[in-house]
Amino acid sequence: MLTNTDPSNLQNEKAALAQPVAGKPFFSVQDIHAYYGESYIVQGISLELNEGEILALLGRNGAGKTSTLRAIARVDDPALKRGEIYLGGESLHDKKAYQAAQMGVQLVPEDRRIIGGLTVEENLVLAQVAEPRGWELERIYEHFPRLAERRSQMGTTLSGGEQQMLAVARALARDIKLLLLDEPYEGLAPVIVQEIEKIVRQIKEIGITTIIVEQNAVAALKLADKAVIVDMGEIAYSGSAQDVLNNEDLRNEYLAI
Ligand SMILES: Nc1ncnc2c1ncn2[C@@H]1O[C@H](COP(=O)(O)OP(=O)(O)OP(=O)(O)O)[C@@H](O)[C@H]1O
Ligand SMILES: [Mg+2]
Repeated sequence: MLTNTDPSNLQNEKAALAQPVAGKPFFSVQDIHAYYGESYIVQGISLELNEGEILALLGRNGAGKTSTLRAIARVDDPALKRGEIYLGGESLHDKKAYQAAQMGVQLVPEDRRIIGGLTVEENLVLAQVAEPRGWELERIYEHFPRLAERRSQMGTTLSGGEQQMLAVARALARDIKLLLLDEPYEGLAPVIVQEIEKIVRQIKEIGITTIIVEQNAVAALKLADKAVIVDMGEIAYSGSAQDVLNNEDLRNEYLAI
């Protein structure tokens, strides 16, 4: 019989802590349907992710990618009318946006929402005002040396790439579990895209689960474990990211790559 001091037993206990809901995925979206007023946009999307996995959410313009992220983040528009969402064993579908944020859901929208009139550092400090806090400033600056150099610069005067870094850094200043990135590479030079990719990989290593929506499908697929392609608010494909990279028909039909 194993005793409490048996190291293999301790290992088992740790494993049990990391996987609180046995057999269930860390994050799951089950057949969600969402509307802007009368417009029926998200028409039965389902996703499943283990902790620390990256999902590429892809599809043509207007397919419903942003709307899906917004429904997950529980913002009011689009209104979620059907379906269930769970994060770490807790329900999200019955929560408001501020409660989702408290549970560790962080949406980084396409426009990045850098706060005007504040420096880089003030943007980061503001993100830490509400509990639970994430990374300390020094740790953020270690990972984002460009932001460290520009800590006293007004956030809105940063370049597009630097603003994207600030948006991701601000998310990490909070204690997040699920990061939702809407077109993080938009308008950025390849070298900046690579810096952001590096950060997303580091985020994965510390166990944060990420959904990345991107027009740059190849870049997103190379980073991702899983992929979902949405078309007209429905799932056209769900599987591994590698399979999409290998599937020419799928790429031609939905991704134009
Ligand atoms: N506030 C809104 N009110 C009404 N319809 C909306 C609203 N926002 C988006 N839509 C519609 O919902 C559909 C899906 O939009 P969504 O922004 O989710 O697409 P997307 O996949 O993110 O597209 P893109 O790649 O262009 O960003 C589109 O037809 C869009 O016109
Ligand atoms: Mg969009």
